[in-house]
Amino acid sequence: MTETAERPQANPLEAGLALRRTPDPCALVIFGASGDLTHKKLMPALYSLALRQLLPPRFAIVGVARTEDSDDGFREDMKQAVQKYARDEFRQDVWDRLAANMHYRSTDFADEGGENAVHELLEQLDGELDLGGNRVYYLAVPPPAFPTIVEELGKRRSHEGWTRVIVEKPFGHDLASAQQLTAMLREHFAENEIFRIDHYLGKETVQNMLALRFSNGIFEPIWNRQFIDHVQITVAESIGIEGRAGYYEQAGAIRDIFQNHLLQLLALTAMEPPIDFTAESVRNEKVKVLRSIHTPGPRSVVRGQYGRGFVEGEEVVAYREEQGVAPNSMTETFVAAKLYVDNWRWADTPFYVRMGKRLARRETTIAIQFKRAPHPPFEETAAEGLRPNVLLVHVQPDEGVSLAIGAKVPGQGMTIRTVHMDFLYGGAFRTGMPEAYERLILDTLLGDATLFTRADEIDEQWLLVDSIVAAWQRDRPAFPNYAAGTWGPPSSDELLHRDGRSWRRH
Ligand code: BG6
Repeated sequence: MTETAERPQANPLEAGLALRRTPDPCALVIFGASGDLTHKKLMPALYSLALRQLLPPRFAIVGVARTEDSDDGFREDMKQAVQKYARDEFRQDVWDRLAANMHYRSTDFADEGGENAVHELLEQLDGELDLGGNRVYYLAVPPPAFPTIVEELGKRRSHEGWTRVIVEKPFGHDLASAQQLTAMLREHFAENEIFRIDHYLGKETVQNMLALRFSNGIFEPIWNRQFIDHVQITVAESIGIEGRAGYYEQAGAIRDIFQNHLLQLLALTAMEPPIDFTAESVRNEKVKVLRSIHTPGPRSVVRGQYGRGFVEGEEVVAYREEQGVAPNSMTETFVAAKLYVDNWRWADTPFYVRMGKRLARRETTIAIQFKRAPHPPFEETAAEGLRPNVLLVHVQPDEGVSLAIGAKVPGQGMTIRTVHMDFLYGGAFRTGMPEAYERLILDTLLGDATLFTRADEIDEQWLLVDSIVAAWQRDRPAFPNYAAGTWGPPSSDELLHRDGRSWRRH
């Protein structure tokens, strides 16, 4: 069989990836193995990587959590998770290979015996599978559990092989706690061993922003304040808080989405071309953007909280009625803001951003709105229906890119209307999109931190969030202020109307 025939997917990019990159043998230890993330994202991603033969030739998975379970019980639980959540069809032979080296240990690391059991198992696996002492530790646990685990891991670093630590969000609650967390990690691990997850960076379409900007000669000359009127970034979700009140009440939309996913989308849109695609070069450019974001004044930030309403035809409760949420909660489920990136490329060009739960539909987009043509030589009525050019990056769903341009309506006379030139991933590559976690897990196994957030980026993100949150202490908006299933509070529209603009039509 040829190399191509062996691979189930026809995507040349994916085949290329498989041919180029093979990680070293290693063990992946997942802390929080009984949690939602492991079931819904991590294990399905590992299965999809196994199916495409992208995992190391010798590889072991060790699940660690407080819940009592056996190796077999864990394997069965994970099998069901893969069958339910993986994007690929379930294949018994692929699963059997993956599950053969899958183990479970029940401990929270606060009990001494527990951590011994994990380390003994790892040493045993090193011997049996010749893993060379290479370890990836995945901290998919709530932040209060970090210190004990990190301390223990640090104390017992194997002297052979490499060690990497993946840290799930939230990375801290504010600048001070994030810096504390980094200091704690840095006592035992070097910065290039720490992989802070922002899963948006693992999304194909988010990386495509880099491909779009830096592999095409036509965009760079117009990618600046001279040609771009403004940018709109939307991260809209139709779902509510999905039973995560404990976390969300503390986080709110500003810490849950704005601090990480939203600011990373903005940074990729606004950054200067990096000199190469190494982790340091890309992150150096992103951090410069984050540093240049001007703290918005109170009039430039809007917050909202959803009341009852209808989402996709179904009646849903208000945020304050969700289980575990305080009946007078002041947690925001929506944020919109006007941000400025104060540098030569972007001075005076607004970046309008909005994100929220229980909005009309799920949609993540980056819209680059260009300035109007300086002098349309047509009669005024000819171009009445013409909107300015917009380059729209559909991060999800309907992944792709579309360019809104003016075109002549067929027929006598000259009437011009806006039409769209569309590139759709599904049509162009005829393959399913990999899940973000597939890419991020594989990159960690390969030691490539390009798509992970560096400590200084996190700090800048928190600095901005802390200053916005500090201003919020001064007033109490009348929550709820938008009905579930709408596009947020009226003040979000007013934010743009004041500037003679409006949010992109849906
Ligand atoms: C997570 C947030 O980071 O991202 C969730 O904590 C949110 O609240 C999720 O729902 C959205 O991710 P995606 O990939 O579905 O857009």
